Amino acid sequence: MDIPFARWHPVIARRRSRRHFDPNLPVTPETLAALDKVCNEFAPFAHARACLIAESAETVFKGIIGSYGKIRGAPAFIAFVGNMDGPFVQEEVGYTGEGIILEATALGLDTCWVGGFFRREIAGPLAKLSNNERVLAVTPVGYRRESESWQEKSMTRFRRSHNRLPLSRLVRGLPEEKWPDWVNVCLEAARLAPSAANRQPWGFDVRENSITVFVRTGGPEFNVSKRLDCGIAMLHLEVAAADCGCRGQWEFLPSPQVAKFKIYPQSVLLALTRCDG
Ligand SMILES: Cc1cc2nc3c(=O)[nH]c(=O)nc-3n(C[C@H](O)[C@H](O)[C@H](O)COP(=O)(O)O)c2cc1C
Repeated sequence: MDIPFARWHPVIARRRSRRHFDPNLPVTPETLAALDKVCNEFAPFAHARACLIAESAETVFKGIIGSYGKIRGAPAFIAFVGNMDGPFVQEEVGYTGEGIILEATALGLDTCWVGGFFRREIAGPLAKLSNNERVLAVTPVGYRRESESWQEKSMTRFRRSHNRLPLSRLVRGLPEEKWPDWVNVCLEAARLAPSAANRQPWGFDVRENSITVFVRTGGPEFNVSKRLDCGIAMLHLEVAAADCGCRGQWEFLPSPQVAKFKIYPQSVLLALTRCDG
């Protein structure tokens, strides 16, 4: 499945993690079917897949106090599954999973990546894991409670969990005054990516016709790979690039680099025209 960039780009700025869902607002079978279709069809890499499970969401999160409080009331969840044989499985799962999260957002649903605290022993069998597969993260799916609960509000304020670092802290390489407009659009979209505990571990190395994503921060991973976060930022970057008319290809790289997005030369011209217009 090609990236539906015109559908996904606008929801990047709108998406927010939500943890408390309204049990009185069930998701219709049609909406679940639309999401399930994208889970099955958006599989750009060999070692990552997403599996929608319209049952047991409460059990997967039950009794788990994550860093932001419990996930409550979701009618369904999605398991983001990686085949651990893949050398770049973490970034592949981040990239693939974020595509599904953006599609859910476009469908009007609410989500929250959960990488740390969920019941793997319940999610795994439901996702029908094969030998070397693991559920690396999950998201609840449903409609949020209209008002944020006190728990959500206080944790958001306390942890500044929606704030993002300015690009000046994240970017190296070509000086900003030399960036074509499409680079700015791509980096802005990547900057807004969600990450575990909002740690924003990514950095971006901008060159004439490429942007390399790398892990910028040291320190512990706390059970969720920073490369998975970087995979999420990669998806945002490519969605924005495509919406600017800029097509390219990812080349995965060894640590601490993650992947280089190389722009196809003819699309640079198109992007310059589109972004200027
Ligand atoms: C890979 C990943 C793992 C996450 N794990 C958790 C988690 O275990 N518990 C939780 O409440 N939120 C988790 N989050 C949500 C982040 O805290 C959230 O995305 C971040 O604070 C940014 O806020 P926003 O998504 O509202 O923009 C995770 C996010 C990502 C990307």
